[in-house]
Amino acid sequence: MKFNDLLEKNIIRLAPMAGVSNAPFRTICLDNGSGFVTTEEIDSISLVYNKSDRTKLITAFSEYENPIAMQLLGCDSESLTESSKILQDLGASIIDINMGCPVPKITKKGKGAALMKDIVGTAKLINSIRNATKIPLTVKIRSGWDENNINAVEFSKMLESEGVDGITVHPRSRSQRYEGNSKWSIIKQVVESVEIPVTGNGDVKSYDDAKRMIEFTKCKSVMIGRGAIGNPWVFNNSLEKLSYEEKDLYKKKTIINHLQQIKNYFPKKNLDMQIKKNLSYYAKGFYNSREIRQKIFRSSDSIENVIELFFKLFDRNVEKNKLEKISV
Ligand SMILES: Cc1cc2nc3c(=O)[nH]c(=O)nc-3n(C[C@H](O)[C@H](O)[C@H](O)COP(=O)(O)O)c2cc1C
Repeated sequence: MKFNDLLEKNIIRLAPMAGVSNAPFRTICLDNGSGFVTTEEIDSISLVYNKSDRTKLITAFSEYENPIAMQLLGCDSESLTESSKILQDLGASIIDINMGCPVPKITKKGKGAALMKDIVGTAKLINSIRNATKIPLTVKIRSGWDENNINAVEFSKMLESEGVDGITVHPRSRSQRYEGNSKWSIIKQVVESVEIPVTGNGDVKSYDDAKRMIEFTKCKSVMIGRGAIGNPWVFNNSLEKLSYEEKDLYKKKTIINHLQQIKNYFPKKNLDMQIKKNLSYYAKGFYNSREIRQKIFRSSDSIENVIELFFKLFDRNVEKNKLEKISV
């Protein structure tokens, strides 16, 4: 299937998030109606030179996730080209290159958003990956390095001329990290400047936000990142039709399913922490959520008891919500 057609069938989808969009969470988001998913970033050097257990874990995906985009983080042509070939052989449907990561320990090495500072060098790098692979190649960018170097349009034109099939724009600069609002007008400018499809990203927290982004920017599709954490049903438009009771039951079942997926995927040594982390994400909207999340995280109790505690709090939260609705 052509990349453009694929996007048309997968308009709203989960964004890559290191430590979050692992296989269990991607599966839960797909269950909830996310379009095709993207792995968290995979370091190109680790993939080529030291196939650690962690690298094996983050490159693992199930048939259910097909088609899947696999994201690379790197800056040297050799490892990026070689790792792209490895991902293609592993069965990736799309290779995505991360040119948006703002974390200093990454950009200091020239990776992530640092690539946006060097249009000429990055063009060579893309050219090398393009020539070595057959599957669609996409790039995820920011608006630019900092407020004095906003170059998303110029950079996107370069990517298009090097044969990239699609671009995702998170319109904050590297120096903004996650602060302030993302400037959707920059997504619109990129859409107007290139022929290849553009995916918009940044501050989409609901289906309606996604619709607004598409209407305003005319982007082809939308990625949701933080709005999906502890909230995978953000992709599930049909939830609105359910009663409150049905919705709560649906959410409970989804969380139980997610925990099962986590148990199947993570090695024993990471399991308790992963469960606690995800339960605390799900507790985000609870009453007293701060205390509850700390309680879950710091508990030295057995993981079974922590899960039991979480669901007691879940039920209590549902009850409180119900009382509030009755009293309105
Ligand atoms: C915890 C976390 C991890 C992230 N990891 C990645 C990553 O591995 N690759 C990437 O391209 N972007 C990564 N991002 C950025 C998101 O994909 C997205 O661009 C950003 O969060 C803005 O979208 P949002 O407002 O919907 O969250 C990460 C963001 C967060 C919050």
